[in-house]
Amino acid sequence: MNKPTLLVTGAGGYIGCVLVPRLLDNGWRVIAVDRYFFGQDLLPEHPDLEKVRQDTRSLSPGLFADVHGVIDLAALSNDPMGDAFTDETWAINHRARARTARLAREAGAARYVIPSSCSIYGFAPPTTILDEASTPNPLTVYAKANLAAEGDILPLAGADFVVTILRFATLFGASPRMRFDLAINGMTEGAWRTRRLPLMRDGNQWRPMIHVRDAARALEFAMTADPHAVNGRILNAGSDDLNVQIGPLGREVASLIPGGAEIEWYGDPDARSYRVSFARIAALGYRTTVSITEGVAEIVAGLESKRLARRADTITLDWYRALEEWKTRIHQVELEGAILKA
Ligand SMILES: NC(=O)c1ccc[n+]([C@@H]2O[C@H](COP(=O)([O-])OP(=O)(O)OC[C@H]3O[C@@H](n4cnc5c(N)ncnc54)[C@H](O)[C@@H]3O)[C@@H](O)[C@H]2O)c1
Repeated sequence: MNKPTLLVTGAGGYIGCVLVPRLLDNGWRVIAVDRYFFGQDLLPEHPDLEKVRQDTRSLSPGLFADVHGVIDLAALSNDPMGDAFTDETWAINHRARARTARLAREAGAARYVIPSSCSIYGFAPPTTILDEASTPNPLTVYAKANLAAEGDILPLAGADFVVTILRFATLFGASPRMRFDLAINGMTEGAWRTRRLPLMRDGNQWRPMIHVRDAARALEFAMTADPHAVNGRILNAGSDDLNVQIGPLGREVASLIPGGAEIEWYGDPDARSYRVSFARIAALGYRTTVSITEGVAEIVAGLESKRLARRADTITLDWYRALEEWKTRIHQVELEGAILKA
């Protein structure tokens, strides 16, 4: 019997490199679409995996033939990218994802799942617990583009096209495409390298977190859940017990660094704080499985073994800037498509 096919955009990214092997293990055929800005070899070779290098701003409609579902990860993936590449963030994160969802529906795909972000809630006083019915208050280009994508894509849901939006907490944990520009990952790497852990005062600010393997599980969960439970719905993806305060989080990370790390407070008290309810996804039977302690420990182990390291391509903005700079330099020196070697 033919295996069902999922088309995953952004498959070569931080989440994609953890999600795709999981999907293959679980019996899916995967079409992994990406520009592969971080390299193609981060995804394994596999008989059920087809890697396609295309830009989501101009995806070929033919890619969607016989696709059961789409997991639409491709995006410029944080606030600094939204500030530095504003037009591109709107084009890729908003318009391209809305087009991808429409192409999927027109081609007869049954399901579509998009990762949005809890950052669309903006910031709220610590006594307020934000849920899916809370009024969004996106403060950055990245968050605004996510909200606009949600707004265009959710109405595409219908009896024959199951659409689910997952608003993710901030991710942490190790991935073949490593990101040290995420809060816990960056704290861990910095503290491991310098034995110092800078924290913004006063440490009482709240943030929700989710491990990258649990994010991959949530995406597959949304793809396979009872359609009546998830169609046309927004689900916060995370866990109530992973709403953490920055002070205790920093102390926990410091305690897991071999030899310890000293907390250094800086700045004025950070008014940005948000606590999120994950009751809706929990009521559907989804639970996270990986603790912050486990996530930090695996990053420390990766750093100690040199499997993980901070490099330009582990800081998303640095990498895209470097690629743009090299494009200019190469253009200036190449002749007839060559530099030194013919
Ligand atoms: N990591 C988090 O904390 C987090 C939280 C909430 C939501 N998300 C969302 O999850 C998705 C994936 O995030 P990630 O952490 O894996 O980011 P990432 O930057 O590691 O991966 C994004 C991938 O998309 C690809 N890509 C970018 N523009 C493209 C284009 N125009 N055409 C084709 N491919 C393109 C990149 O090459 C990269 O492989 C994003 O939509 C992000 O906004 C992530």
